[in-house]
This record gives sequence, structure tokens and C-alpha cells, in this order.
Amino acid sequence: MKAIIPTGGMGTRMRPLTFTANKHLIPVANKPLILYPVETIAATGIKEIALTYNPGQLDIIQNFLGDGSKWGVKFTYILQENPRGGLANIFQVCEKFIDGDSFVMHLGDNVFTGGIKNLADHFRKHKPKGLVGLVHHPENVRLGVPYFDENGKLVKYVEKPENPPHDFAVPGVYFFDPIIFNCFKGKEKITPSPRGELEISSAYQWLIDHKYDVDTLEIEGAWLDPGKVQDWLEANFYLLDLNTKTKIDSEFDKTVKVTGRVTVGKNCVITNSHLKGPLNIGDNVNITNSTVGPFTSVYNNCVIIDSTVTESVLMESVVIDKVRKNIENSIIGPNSNISQSNHSEHYSELLVGELSKISL
Ligand code: G1P
Repeated sequence: MKAIIPTGGMGTRMRPLTFTANKHLIPVANKPLILYPVETIAATGIKEIALTYNPGQLDIIQNFLGDGSKWGVKFTYILQENPRGGLANIFQVCEKFIDGDSFVMHLGDNVFTGGIKNLADHFRKHKPKGLVGLVHHPENVRLGVPYFDENGKLVKYVEKPENPPHDFAVPGVYFFDPIIFNCFKGKEKITPSPRGELEISSAYQWLIDHKYDVDTLEIEGAWLDPGKVQDWLEANFYLLDLNTKTKIDSEFDKTVKVTGRVTVGKNCVITNSHLKGPLNIGDNVNITNSTVGPFTSVYNNCVIIDSTVTESVLMESVVIDKVRKNIENSIIGPNSNISQSNHSEHYSELLVGELSKISL
């Protein structure tokens, strides 16, 4: 079995963070998002992974991920020319890479906290022509929804139905036999939906309509879909809580108090501060006279002086300098500098990029 991880898309729902960064490289709980699917796929034993990208995006992804050897896998980078082609178009452009093998496509911005090994094992053992992962989701009206017959067999896969009969939804992991490439060929080939995309639901429906077996299986653990800013912030909190282990790789003295689970990277200088877990601090971070955490991630090269930061995400090289009010529930993009103005009683001095949100 092979795997496909899409890394394209416009990231419009993640603006302003995606004006300067590819959505898949934005950290979630201090780990770039794309590493979650890469590690999940590697854990199933799959060795060959295609990473699809859109025009102009190859360098940034390839420079970051390399050839895959770090994870014991081999990456092949494949261009998907039309960023709005749809999920079925993503695997359509990988037909040569798949080369008659079966495959799984795992969206590059989805996180399965329990992995997908149960699905991969089922697919390998039972060899259906398709396998659909299932989750329970209160808002499945905005997702793909499976419909079953009285024996629990999948009979329909509908995109964003108005009145779903249950709370099942399809998350971003899809298994296929190579027979699926026939859905792009001949008279009965699938066609773009009203939103102009070759839908993943159309591909599965093609299998069902052609009487091929499509199995369904619930995923284990939680499904996180941090495609929008609020969902992404919640994914940060969830993963910090789930994954933070106490691991301190820098030295500091007794002026630093640590409560809860706190991870601190290398070469950090921390003095006279309180670190409250769950908290993840990257490498080369300086913290002085401050309280940081809980539910906070501080990426590499940040500086925090005389300030309090809680339930927030600080990206690379952020400086927080003597800010009197607590910084809470905030997302601060790379290289931002937040400091207390000397004139703060009278006015604020701001240099704010497009689509920023500031609450003073
Ligand atoms: C896509 C699929 C949908 C699936 C969802 C999971 O939706 O079309 O069936 O439930 O991913 O995230 P989209 O995000 O493109 O609207």
C-alpha cells in the first residue's frame, strides 16, 4: 500500500497566518501540522508517500520535509496544477506514482490522535475496493455523510446534506483499491460538483454504483481538523493537553517554578518565572520575570520579559516585552514584537498586518 498527503490549498480560512506561511507548516502544539499525518502514515508501515503540492509551493514543502528518510519513508513530490480541483483530483494526479497498488490519502491538515492503523489493518486484511473512516460529529452538515442500509452497509456518501439521519461523518482519510482510477475514464466518469470540484464522495459513490465493496470503520481516538483559526486554536489546546510530557532540556535555577507537565527545549534561558503546564517551550527561548501557561505553546527563539501569557500560541521569534495586561487566548504570528508603550495611558502604537485582530 502507498500513501498520498496533500499539502496544497489556499489556506484562506487560516488567514492572516497563511499570508506568509503554508498552512501545513503552521505549528500545532509546537509541531508543524504536516508532521502529524507524516508520522501517522509512517506508523502504519507504509514506505512510499506522495506529497502533492500546488504551483509555486514545492520549495517550501520540500525544503522542510526532504526525502522522507528521517521517518524511514520515501517522499515523491507531485504537482496538482489546479488548487481547486477537489480531493479526487489529488489522487487522480498520482496515478503513475500509485502504479497499480492500493493506497490511502490522508489530508495534510488533519490529525488522528489514535492513528489510522486499525483502518490500514482492516483494509489490508479484507481488501475492499474502498474503505471510509467514520467519526461522530455534531456538525456533520458541513461534512461528507455516509448513509447505510439495514445491514449497516454503505449505500451512499453525500456531501454536506441538509438533514443527516445520524451524527456520522467522514473525516480526512480515504482508502482505495487502484480500480478507483477507472472513475476518471469512460462514459460513466465522475464530473465536477456544483462547487466545481471532483469530490471524494463522487469517487466512493462511483464504487458503490458499480457494485464494488466499500467498507466503513470508526476511527480510534479523536479527529482534529484545524482548518479554521478557532478550530486550530482548539486543536492546540487539545494536543498540548494530550501529548505534553515533562521533559526539560535546558538548565535553570530555583528561581524558576514549574507546575504541571512542561516541555522545555534546548538552549533556553529562564529565570525568576513560573511555568505552568500543559506548556510546550521550543529551543532558544528566553523567559524572565514572567508567568507562562497553562495551555500555551512557545515556539523557537521567543523572548518573554516581565509578562504573563496564558492559553496562547506564540510562533517563531516572538518578543513579548513588559506587557502589563495578561496576554490570553491569543495567537501571535512569527517575528511579532509586543511591548508596553510608554504612552499607554494616552494611545497605543500599532503596526498591524492585514486581517489582524487586536482587542485592547
Ligand atoms: C472534504 C470532503 C468531505 C469530508 C471532509 C473532511 O470536505 O469533501 O466529504 O467530510 O473533507 O474534512 P471539504 O473540507 O473539502 O469541504
